[in-house]
Amino acid sequence: MDSFIGWIGGKKALRKEIVSRFPDDIPSTYVEVCGGAGWVLFEKEQIKKQLEVFNDIDGNLINLYRCIQHHPEALVKELEYILASHELFYDFREQINMRGLTDIQRAARYFYLIKISFGCDKRSFATRKKRLDKALERFEDIQSRLTGVVIENRDFEGLIKLYDSENALFYVDPPYHGTEKHYDKNGKPFLEEDHHRLKDCLSSIKGKFILSYNNDSFIHCLYEGFHIEELKRNNTLAAHSSNKEKFSELIIRNY
Ligand SMILES: C[S@@+](CC[C@H](N)C(=O)[O-])C[C@H]1O[C@@H](n2cnc3c(N)ncnc32)[C@H](O)[C@@H]1O
Repeated sequence: MDSFIGWIGGKKALRKEIVSRFPDDIPSTYVEVCGGAGWVLFEKEQIKKQLEVFNDIDGNLINLYRCIQHHPEALVKELEYILASHELFYDFREQINMRGLTDIQRAARYFYLIKISFGCDKRSFATRKKRLDKALERFEDIQSRLTGVVIENRDFEGLIKLYDSENALFYVDPPYHGTEKHYDKNGKPFLEEDHHRLKDCLSSIKGKFILSYNNDSFIHCLYEGFHIEELKRNNTLAAHSSNKEKFSELIIRNY
């Protein structure tokens, strides 16, 4: 199934390629480490008895997932009569980290900002036709897919250490090298040292990992010795330009 949101760097176009590279032996634990819009989780089959974990460092995003998992009706109620307007968009942008909002009010504002912004960047109002009602109709199906999924809001390192075992599979989709500024990490950017920290962490796990990255010489060097493949897809980070050139991606595995 499709995700319910778009996301910068989202793997809509690559999701089938990624899932087709999952190991044949079904892991007992599946962990999506840098979740975003969860295109791979929503593509992946839900397997009986498998523990699924979905994580992102973005607290507002994870609050939205938790509200859909537990209170989809309340979220629809909060959003159903809201106008798609320029004024409201910029008010919500101001309010998103304001104290005193309920989790549902915050989730509604974040969902609105993602849906109404240009290229889902949550920063600029997109001047195009908006259909919030259609998006709300999908909450029930999304809730059903999220049933039983453990939703976490942690930095990748602690998360990977916590869920690591011989039977675990980690799908990791970090901010791409050179595009880190596109994501909020509670005001802290993903730095060069974080790419090194991720590599050190993945190098020492007992389980399996599959990692997606941009095709970049720094990443090639960093993951030398692992199984590296190059794939082509459209560049979703070029949303602000008319340049829809093919963008080369890496899929890196330790199996
Ligand atoms: C390329 S996006 C993931 C896109 C996702 N796979 C999809 O299909 O929508 C990278 C994600 O990593 C998250 N992230 C950034 N720093 C992180 C960290 N230290 N630990 C975990 N997630 C992090 C960002 O919030 C962002 O959602």
